[in-house]
Amino acid sequence: MQVKRFGVSLENELLKSLDQLVIKHKFPNRSQAIRYLINKNIVEDKWEDNEDVAGAIVLVYDHHKRDLQNKSTDLQHDYHDLILSVQHVHLDHDNCLETIAVKGKATKLKNLADRLIALKGIKHGQLVMSTP
Ligand code: NI
Repeated sequence: MQVKRFGVSLENELLKSLDQLVIKHKFPNRSQAIRYLINKNIVEDKWEDNEDVAGAIVLVYDHHKRDLQNKSTDLQHDYHDLILSVQHVHLDHDNCLETIAVKGKATKLKNLADRLIALKGIKHGQLVMSTP
């Protein structure tokens, strides 16, 4: 891919903030930090505008709560057209980590994530909003 150079004028404080971002995220240079910010913004806009997006729903729960697993499976079947894959990892004696890869309209993915995360017994849940 062709790379173009351009000059950027920034106030001192903003430049300081950019350099702090470079350090915090261990970016090799300012260009990589600017790429990161632009892409982050594009992804956020796509989710806000209800475009076709992709991401992952991460759930941690106690598998001894049988009812929870049934409800989660029912929900996942209701939204089967959005789900690409499900990875289940047994973290320890009690806890399971489930990563559900999803793709579709942003509002639908948010709905599914909200309903899964709200299930009684979920210890932690998060929707990772990403997109190609
Ligand atoms: Ni498990």
